[in-house]
Amino acid sequence: MEKIREHTEAGNTPFYVYDTMRIQENCREFLNIPYTPLSVNYAMMANSNPLFLNIIKQAGLKIFVNSLLHLEMALNFNFRGDEIIFAASAMDELTMRQVKSSGAKLVLDSIGQLELWQSLFPDTGIGIRCNIGELVIPRKTTGGYFIGNQSRLGLTMDSINNLKGNPCISGLHIYVGTNISEIDYFLDCYKHILNLAEFFPKLEFIDFGGGFGSGEKVKKRFNIHAYGRKVTELMNDITSISGRKISLILEPGRIIGADAGYFVCKITDIKMRNNQQLIGVNASSVQFPRPLFYPDSAYHPISIVSRNNTASDKTGRLSSIYGCSTYSRDYLARDVELPQAHIGDIVILGHAGSYCSTAHTSFLGFPKAEEYFI
Ligand SMILES: Cc1ncc(COP(=O)(O)O)c(C=O)c1O
Repeated sequence: MEKIREHTEAGNTPFYVYDTMRIQENCREFLNIPYTPLSVNYAMMANSNPLFLNIIKQAGLKIFVNSLLHLEMALNFNFRGDEIIFAASAMDELTMRQVKSSGAKLVLDSIGQLELWQSLFPDTGIGIRCNIGELVIPRKTTGGYFIGNQSRLGLTMDSINNLKGNPCISGLHIYVGTNISEIDYFLDCYKHILNLAEFFPKLEFIDFGGGFGSGEKVKKRFNIHAYGRKVTELMNDITSISGRKISLILEPGRIIGADAGYFVCKITDIKMRNNQQLIGVNASSVQFPRPLFYPDSAYHPISIVSRNNTASDKTGRLSSIYGCSTYSRDYLARDVELPQAHIGDIVILGHAGSYCSTAHTSFLGFPKAEEYFI
């Protein structure tokens, strides 16, 4: 709070502030998963701030990227090629060539992509993204379906079956969805990968992707420890089936930073309308875009801190927080219970460390908010 007040008084709002120790702790929990060999590759799309990347790198994480720009950033950050996972879809030849020359491990999204790859680099090991959705009941998670026939991603079972015995398949990848709290859903999906492992004689790695829940209205934090125990058991089974040690790769994104970040802005206007307290702030949802992208599901706990520490009337009243543009959908929060607010008070939105600052858009003309690490 001291730092938040300091930056606010210096006139720096809006800004993001991150708790470095929280990020480090989240990294450590993944690195404590007992299976070896284990590689935890942070999904850079969740937060690509260089200071953030520095923290996760120092903590011992590797990196996952899905675009050439992020690949270049990862290389400039001195991640070695073999510490980078690259997965994307509909890649063109140039992209494949650049990924290959970086030395990153590549995961392909379709049979067409595999054919292109094999025409460019015959007999070279490659990972495939497995859409095993027809073997489970796929769940709709934040952002929709990531497996099953409602998802555009990955190779479906018919394609995977046709590849049986292919010595070039060196990795199996799965990404079941995002912001999931139930460990059992992950495992129900993962166990089908166990069956696929025996198809591929040269399998080197299994990548279970990310998707670990954090930041929404979950009562308990995702239990990384319990997840790690179960995933280790599963990997040990895979090892005994294939008769070789297969590497385990995880790609956590959201969970590494979500609960470490806060977005801070200042109240600049208040209106009463339709029995609602409409709180105007000196920021726009383009600087804090999750409520814009996910109006039905984005949840960020809100604190209103009085500018001079005076006790305010804490009685909750139906409120919305709106941004300082003319865009009709410029809301940072809608229909929430908040205490009486005053012009000059500070608004702090929590769970703002992932998919927030990185999702900034230049639409409306507001700059990216500053980011501070404490
Ligand atoms: C392939 C892949 N891996 C990892 C991630 C990170 O996922 P999350 O932030 O849900 O952990 C994503 C995010 O979209 C992804 O597409």
